[in-house]
Amino acid sequence: MPSSPTANTRTVRGENVDVVHTIRGLQQRADTERAAGCRIGLVPTMGALHAGHLALVEEARRRADRVWLSIFVNPTQFNDFQDLARYPRTLNEDLDKCRAAGVALVFAPDASEMYPDGGQTWVEVGELAQPLCGATRPGHFRGVATVVSKLFLAAKPHVAVFGEKDFQQLAVIRRMARDLLFDVDVIGAPTVREPDGLALSSRNVNLDPEARRQATVLVRALDAAERAVAAGERNAAALLHGVVREIGKAPLARIDYAELRDPESLEPSPSVLECPSLLALAVLFDSPEGAPGVPVRLIDNRVLAPKPRTGRSSP
Ligand code: PAJ
Repeated sequence: MPSSPTANTRTVRGENVDVVHTIRGLQQRADTERAAGCRIGLVPTMGALHAGHLALVEEARRRADRVWLSIFVNPTQFNDFQDLARYPRTLNEDLDKCRAAGVALVFAPDASEMYPDGGQTWVEVGELAQPLCGATRPGHFRGVATVVSKLFLAAKPHVAVFGEKDFQQLAVIRRMARDLLFDVDVIGAPTVREPDGLALSSRNVNLDPEARRQATVLVRALDAAERAVAAGERNAAALLHGVVREIGKAPLARIDYAELRDPESLEPSPSVLECPSLLALAVLFDSPEGAPGVPVRLIDNRVLAPKPRTGRSSP
């Protein structure tokens, strides 16, 4: 039987948030909103929402008439099955948070909706996706770029907001949107942190309590590097040495990478910093010996801006 345009759409109207599960339902809704002259702001997420995600919602609200949020734990961006299996899934709590935050629509597709059987098409960004997380998580950014392209085509947003916590992801998505001529403004929003400085992340709940205490070493290492740069340090090796020493103070931490890169191109920074440089960290946290749990990988970053060299003052 031929399906009517709405036959494949399950739209549930909550107090004031609609939940859409199908691409077709979302596209129709996008067409309606666009025809009515409404600007759509999209916040793509994998759920387990926290205040970092909700800050993106706030940013989207400033730039759009309707804020839409997608929740999809995207299997193609996980290169570790355990990580995918353990990813927290909290749809009901997420919907409550969306309602409270004034999100108009939540898109919550299942995997077969996003990846129809027999799919053969991928979106792959070049150089920007190679270093850092691209090097240690092969295929990760291919999964991200592909799913975000699909979300843009499904939600037809005018603007989409992403966190600077995932600095490389934001750079990859900006490049992808430009290269594929997406008519979407890609906006970055600052990292939201716990009171002790740890960047909020859906993975933080998987940390063993002792590892959680030690996880502040990430922000302490960034702060130390920033202080060193403010005090005049420009030597990249010395800065990275300080970062490694700081992270070494946390016995449960293992560095995945700690690198200085150009914030635009993500190419390695020169050995003496003259321009702003991205300090990007990825650190694995083990559980203490004998405690259950598998390593949790956290990332964080800071753009370090060396003070301009003061030339000889003119007479
Ligand atoms: P997820 O990890 O759920 O993050 C969704 C968005 O929230 C991303 O743009 C991320 O950078 C942002 N975010 C996460 N923690 C943040 C924090 N502490 N402060 C501010 N923003 C924060 O990133 C993804 O999902 C996925 O890769 C996705 C883009 C949805 C594609 O599947």
